[in-house]
Amino acid sequence: MFYFMSTEAIQAPVLYSEKAYEALNTYFENISPSSIFIIVDTNTRELCLPLVLPRIETDARIEVIEMDAGEEFKNIHTCTSIWKVLSELEADRKSLIINLGGGVVTDLGGFVASTFKRGIAYINIPTTLLAMVDASVGGKTGVDLDNLKNQIGVITQPEMVLIDIQFLSTLSSAEMRSGLAEILKHGLIASRSYWKKATRLQDLTMDDLDDLIGESVEIKAQVVTKDPREENLRKTLNFGHTFGHAIESYFLTNPKKDKLLHGEAVAAGMIIACYLSYKLANFPRQDLEKVTKTLLSFFPLIKIEENDFNAVIDLLKYDKKNSHGNIYFVLLRNIGACEIDCNVPDNLLIEGLRYYTNFKTA
Ligand SMILES: NC(=O)c1ccc[n+]([C@@H]2O[C@H](COP(=O)([O-])OP(=O)(O)OC[C@H]3O[C@@H](n4cnc5c(N)ncnc54)[C@H](O)[C@@H]3O)[C@@H](O)[C@H]2O)c1
Repeated sequence: MFYFMSTEAIQAPVLYSEKAYEALNTYFENISPSSIFIIVDTNTRELCLPLVLPRIETDARIEVIEMDAGEEFKNIHTCTSIWKVLSELEADRKSLIINLGGGVVTDLGGFVASTFKRGIAYINIPTTLLAMVDASVGGKTGVDLDNLKNQIGVITQPEMVLIDIQFLSTLSSAEMRSGLAEILKHGLIASRSYWKKATRLQDLTMDDLDDLIGESVEIKAQVVTKDPREENLRKTLNFGHTFGHAIESYFLTNPKKDKLLHGEAVAAGMIIACYLSYKLANFPRQDLEKVTKTLLSFFPLIKIEENDFNAVIDLLKYDKKNSHGNIYFVLLRNIGACEIDCNVPDNLLIEGLRYYTNFKTA
């Protein structure tokens, strides 16, 4: 199974399993990179690199560059260290970077590649579910600015994305769940039938998971193909991320809070966005209840106190979809149908947080 994005602006094939390794080696043969730099984090070096190295056939010099694992290292300091290593190892404009890791490695490694010597080629090999279905596809690269998510970055397409679900065998169940949040998001914004299929994930086999990943990639790729620069349709992929990023940022730097996984914060953000959709976009009440219960069955309620509300709302102003001082949300009219650029009054922001924090599942 593979999917080629089709416009001239976007030329990033997403390839799966055996075909992907074949394409990777053909690419090396055709391009003859002067050297290959594989960026890994501490975990993917140990768990994923040994699965990839034996599959690579090339005469080019291969170097491995390791960064610390975790969102707190997705910053410009890590980039600087990697740029220095590239420079010391005499990387040139014909060098190639392979990002082997989760969304942190693909976001940061893509940014490092897109800016080193004004841009060198890179390939993504995602190793988490989240990176397979979302982060590695679409060409958004970047880093956080202190606790503010993804404030610095560029959109540059990888040469290809190689998806091999073998990597998922070592991923924790919490990280698998985190990836599921983006799969569920693709259902909510684009397809009721895909949403239904994804919510039955507990009963699904590895083969079903393979298909689910393929469909998710396809949903994202189609959106990105139509609107690569995020002028309109691509904004729908941010559904749940307005509050999601604010909650993630708040928990990342508050010493009294446990760090959240990206998908956990996005799940909370999607519930709040569904509530705002019910209030402002005629999203049906029964769907609001159903979606809230379903998301809470996968992602336990995050403890956000009333006295955290203002700080979380303050962080909304850094969302990248904002302009002219307004905070804009993506809302749902229905499952599978979105509205973009929705302005939400302040009182509803608090109401949305209250709806989430006070929801009783029983
Ligand atoms: N660019 C985009 O379009 C986009 C979209 C969604 C999310 N993101 C970004 O993605 C990031 C989150 O990605 P993530 O959830 O993959 O986080 P991550 O990269 O931090 O990976 C999660 C953890 O799993 C470990 N890991 C990775 N692969 C493993 C494997 N196969 N086995 C065992 N452990 C493994 C990592 O070392 C890390 O500790 C966030 O920074 C988010 O902003 C980007």
